[in-house]
Amino acid sequence: FSQGTLSLLLMYKQQEVAATQPNKFPQVILFLLERKMGASRRAFLSQLGRRKGFQVEELFSKNVTHVICESNTAQEARMWLEAQGAGQAGRHLLDVSWYTESMRDGHPVEILDRHKLQVQQHFHKCSEFAVNDSEVTPFSVPGYACQRRCTLENHNAVLTDALSLLAENAELSDEDGRGVAFRRAAAVLKALPSAVTNMSQLTGLPCLGGHSLRVIKDILENGTSSEVESTKESERFKALKVLTGIFGVGSKTADRWIREGIHNLQQLRDSGQTLNRAQQAGLEHYDDIKQPVSLAEAEAIRGIVGRAVASVSPEAQIVLTGGFRRGKLTGHDVDFLITHPEEGSEVGLMPKLVSWLESRVSFYAALLISKQPKMIVVMFKSIVTFSKILLNVISGIFLYGQKFRAVLEMGGRWRAVRVDLVVSPISQFAFALLGWTGSKLFERELRRWAGHEKGMSLSSHALYDNKQLSCLQGRYIRASSEEEIFAHLGLEFIPPNERNA
Ligand code: CTP
Ligand code: MN
Ligand code: MN
Repeated sequence: FSQGTLSLLLMYKQQEVAATQPNKFPQVILFLLERKMGASRRAFLSQLGRRKGFQVEELFSKNVTHVICESNTAQEARMWLEAQGAGQAGRHLLDVSWYTESMRDGHPVEILDRHKLQVQQHFHKCSEFAVNDSEVTPFSVPGYACQRRCTLENHNAVLTDALSLLAENAELSDEDGRGVAFRRAAAVLKALPSAVTNMSQLTGLPCLGGHSLRVIKDILENGTSSEVESTKESERFKALKVLTGIFGVGSKTADRWIREGIHNLQQLRDSGQTLNRAQQAGLEHYDDIKQPVSLAEAEAIRGIVGRAVASVSPEAQIVLTGGFRRGKLTGHDVDFLITHPEEGSEVGLMPKLVSWLESRVSFYAALLISKQPKMIVVMFKSIVTFSKILLNVISGIFLYGQKFRAVLEMGGRWRAVRVDLVVSPISQFAFALLGWTGSKLFERELRRWAGHEKGMSLSSHALYDNKQLSCLQGRYIRASSEEEIFAHLGLEFIPPNERNA
């Protein structure tokens, strides 16, 4: 197979992007009344709201615009407000159903009569947030993540964040089996159409093992899981996260350093450990690499890399893959897949691309070759987002060099961005596209499905039918689109934006 991959650290001139508003709906300031709702449910619902970009106040203040109550009458809520020295004036007194519907839709929904607090005692039946077993709607989802349509929406972020943290801890501790189990459990909760509030809703769901269920139960009952909290606070987990956050450092290296007493970046710098060049670059640009890449930046970088590709191979095609292809608005890196319409013409493309980049950046760049074969790390402090300046890059390094200095003198802010490049022959393109679009769990589940349910082997190069005994070698199945691969696997086609397992 001739697929090649390349990981870059790219210095990139940031566009002036307005600071992201943590509160997506500035006119809506929410307060959840604890009375009859209970403290843990209030904490749970508040956290849920904040995840979705709502401003949910911990303490009541005059700024609160919407007061959310459960099982309270309008009189009771007004009495409570008066006791706080505030009236109802200008404020909405709403039933929790307005809140849960707004969470479901991701924005404040229109206030209908049924959302307003009733004057008479009245108990709402909201199936999503039922507390009474007889009202509980059990959920149902298929067993493999590649059979589910999972958008970026997540009604169970509090629970999935907790399980993902345990997964991450297991993965960093080299316990991949446990890691996958937590990832699968989190993916099942993420696929649910609404928030889980009661354990009985989970009856019959796949992939929820005893351990995951214990964590979910803790959170539903107490608002937090002690295991998650203690993991989050553990010195070892914190050190593993910081150290593996360095580009070029995996869990094995991090573990060795921790055993030598290195827990943070300063201790690493002071330790005199020999770092390879990728790790040196990773340490130097640690803060940049930790910072998420925005879609705007990804598109700007696509322009830059696209020009580089076009100048070494005019007919070559480049596609944005990874999380951005799934509709994510931020990512930890930018992933590109490159191919050429004529089979074989992609051979040598990656080295040409590397020397092109190298020749344009030799002034500022260091070419870093890691120990892994086919994995080259290039670090360059050179490429700019704006096409006007980029044109100068193409017209010559010296002019570019001056421009580069000019940009710096103008006070531009540069940042390092991780970029993954993959070059694939056109005959493998569909497999590479499917394999590099992710999510990671979706990919793992596709391969598990292929193996366990279909007797096939799927990779980002090919699909192989293990059952074809007529030919001793088995059989490779051709496909020229993702749709064909799903069809060969006997799966309904899932578009990229629904592969966010
Ligand atoms: N991938 C791979 N081999 C690697 C690294 C990644 O096949 N050595 C695949 C993953 O399986 C995934 C895709 O490349 O399907 C993208 O990986 P990655 O960039 O790590 O994740 P994203 O989903 O893009 O998430 P993010 O937005 O945080 O980058
Ligand atoms: Mn990515
Ligand atoms: Mn990647």
